[in-house]
Amino acid sequence: MKILVTGGTGYIGSHTCVELLKNGYEVVIVDNLYNSSVEILDKIEKITGIKPVFYQTDILDKEGLEKVFTENKIDAVIHFAGYKAVGESVAKPLTYYENNISGSINLYQLMKKYCVNSLVFSSSATVYGDDFEVPFKEEYGLGTTTNPYGTSKKMNEMIITDMSKADPELSCVLLRYFNPIGAHESGLIGEIPNGIPNNLVPYIAQVVSGQRGFLRIWGNDYDTPDGTGVRDYIHVVDLARAHVKAIDYAKEHKGTEVINIGTGKGYSVMEVLHAYEKACGKKIPYQIMERRPGDIATCYADTEKAEKLLNFKAEYNIDRMCEDSYRFTVMQSK
Ligand code: NAD
Ligand code: WQD
Repeated sequence: MKILVTGGTGYIGSHTCVELLKNGYEVVIVDNLYNSSVEILDKIEKITGIKPVFYQTDILDKEGLEKVFTENKIDAVIHFAGYKAVGESVAKPLTYYENNISGSINLYQLMKKYCVNSLVFSSSATVYGDDFEVPFKEEYGLGTTTNPYGTSKKMNEMIITDMSKADPELSCVLLRYFNPIGAHESGLIGEIPNGIPNNLVPYIAQVVSGQRGFLRIWGNDYDTPDGTGVRDYIHVVDLARAHVKAIDYAKEHKGTEVINIGTGKGYSVMEVLHAYEKACGKKIPYQIMERRPGDIATCYADTEKAEKLLNFKAEYNIDRMCEDSYRFTVMQSK
């Protein structure tokens, strides 16, 4: 079975390609390398023994994208390609809507034209907004998003749901990721942030490797056990495994399902910091700052639906996530 992976050289995409190849799937990657590099293909080959077919193509280039469909008999699509920086999306909404919505529509139109009926889409816990009680359950539906990035995920969910209502042959799985962190155990692939990281673990990794002086903790006066924000961190390899399960599910079921992918457990910023200190064997300097605008106190998933429908349960704990992130950071600096 041949899977088209858009954004396949990116952080989550590359780990997913590894898991797909390990499970006997053929992989065709489309990526414009905006936020990744061609060397990832060699790393995937080093891990799996297989080099995926690669097209350096922008999903906004519909003709270029069509070539991928004419040259390959695609059975299913996993759609990762998109921009993901929350703050940047506030400053450049049209850029985000163009890439994340127009790009997606090009892809969905070609899927229709070439009768590709299975789709797994990268959604995000951000679509819950801060309208609901934790743990976030899929049945809550879509909340009030607070930035164009989040709205682009919500709009994609709505578009896919409408497509699926209009075409009973479609099988779509919308995966709402919580906070993916960590790296492959080989240390060969992981997250390489562009510029100053916004996310917690990439920032900690840069403090540990000496690129930044200290971690700024955005607020310690939340209504959480230690006052710092609580999130549902999930190992990127667990998340990648969930995509293989979602593809397997889509083979057997029609319609659209929304499924949370997290561990169901929340960790505070301080807990993550301490787990990372354990992983790297040194103290990590930090300073408490004002709250970051737009942050919520606590976010974690209800994971029952993933267990029931996909038979998916995350395996790796926070210590392992930090150990793998640290190993990747060390290997990067060599
Ligand atoms: P990433 O930036 O590492 O990967 C995205 C890839 O898509 C990159 O390789 C980039 O070059 C490519 N890309 C972007 N625009 C493109 C275009 N127009 N045409 C072709 N390729 C394009 O991001 P990631 O962390 O791997 O995220 C993957 C997906 O998961 C994204 O859709 C993101 O919004 C979503 N997501 C990520 C997180 C997270 O915390 N990392 C959480 C929830 C959802
Ligand atoms: C986690 C916690 C911060 C950085 C974001 C997106 C979301 C999703 C995942 C894509 C919070 C604190 C962080 C720092 C800190 N992405 N923090 N110092 O905000 O939960 O989610 O990434 O879909 O859409 O919004 O993740 O890693 O930025 O923050 O204290 O330097 O760490 O305040 O409590 P977040 P994060």
